[in-house]
Amino acid sequence: MKILMVGSGGREHALIKKLAESPKCDKIYCAPGNGGIASDAECVNIGAMDIDNMVKFAKDNAVDLVFVAPDDPLAAGMVDSMEKAGIRAFGPNADAAIIEASKVFSKNLMKKYGIPTAKYEVFSDPDKAIEYIESENTTPVVVKADGLALGKGVIIAQTIDEAKDAVKSIMEDKKFGDSGNNIVIEEYLTGPEVSVLAFTDGKVVKPMVSSKDHKRAYDNDEGLNTGGMGTVSPNPYYTDKIAQECYDTIFIPTIEAMSKEGRKFKGCLYFGLMITPNGPKVIEYNARFGDPEAQVVLPRLKTDLVDICEAIIDEKLSDIDIEWYDGAAACVVMASGGYPLSYKKGVEIKGLDENGGVDGAIVYHAGTKLENGKLYTNGGRVLGVTAKADTLDEALDKAYNAVKKINFEGAHYRTDIGRTK
Ligand code: AMP
Ligand code: GLY
Repeated sequence: MKILMVGSGGREHALIKKLAESPKCDKIYCAPGNGGIASDAECVNIGAMDIDNMVKFAKDNAVDLVFVAPDDPLAAGMVDSMEKAGIRAFGPNADAAIIEASKVFSKNLMKKYGIPTAKYEVFSDPDKAIEYIESENTTPVVVKADGLALGKGVIIAQTIDEAKDAVKSIMEDKKFGDSGNNIVIEEYLTGPEVSVLAFTDGKVVKPMVSSKDHKRAYDNDEGLNTGGMGTVSPNPYYTDKIAQECYDTIFIPTIEAMSKEGRKFKGCLYFGLMITPNGPKVIEYNARFGDPEAQVVLPRLKTDLVDICEAIIDEKLSDIDIEWYDGAAACVVMASGGYPLSYKKGVEIKGLDENGGVDGAIVYHAGTKLENGKLYTNGGRVLGVTAKADTLDEALDKAYNAVKKINFEGAHYRTDIGRTK
């Protein structure tokens, strides 16, 4: 089979390495890919949002399976366009990807179908939103832009003034562009967070092993929210009992709700959960694999990922038993100094071998480029240094030992991945 991966981050690198293990896989392309992905796939210079050229490339090269990994092309209907052209594609159609692309949609869905989530109100008028914040008069309060905002569209306001500023910056200053035409104001929840990615063909849902993301930039969960600074799997807070409760009250009801709405979800559905004192609740849905959750979940997958993708496309997921390796995995993200705000690009990365790897770990490349045989930084998150072991402590030791062998000017990573709530 010829496979085309759409995207360019650490998640895509992890997906490619897993797909490459399949005996069915002969050739992998990645568009646009990155410097490290180039060791595992043929990178093609087509932007992840360039749907027309992506379809043309897939057709011209007789690609058997297109894997659309990032949120934007899913929301823009890349899977729909592939299907129209007769090309098999993994990922939800646009009408299902809306579960991530619109928080107003997902909150209303949860309310309609009784799926546990934070209480909320939706506003399209900033004055009404501010009136509501003043009348509720509770803090912290959470202000969310409706649309996609690179994981940055959520503001947890500690004071009423901060909440009002958040409304103004999202709705009036358009900090996140049109994503902020509508906002959700919601109740602040507490408890450990869990990421559960699940395979689903719209009929059955098969949760993957759990994981935990560390979203804040600095140790002790300080600093700004990022796309994710590191992950571990399994998530120590996700007990079997909680997993069963989530399956019954969240996973199954969500898949059924989407089907009832005529928006059958096929692909990987990401449940961002919080284990609150009143039980597990949904913080957000993503219509795709998480990044860097994929980097710790996929190395633990035993079953052929190509078979799983095909079963999902054919709506035969119930026929497959999905198996996982025991033990644990840890991923430490090495980021450019300054991320998630502004940072330098084009800094040489030292300590990697000619395949962009390092002994004792798997190095997933997130933001790198290859020039004259040398690797340079090319993004905020640069590398996801990952290790698998029998225990989480061992996996973390292995990952951190590998991190110490790699360096680039300004490199920043958290030293407490797997250690905080
Ligand atoms: P999201 O992009 O919706 O995942 O939100 C980013 C992060 O903000 C989440 O991972 C949580 O840490 C936090 N967050 C979002 N919604 C809430 C909430 N209702 N209560 C507390 N924290 C939240
Ligand atoms: N790591 C969180 C996400 O992929 O949205």
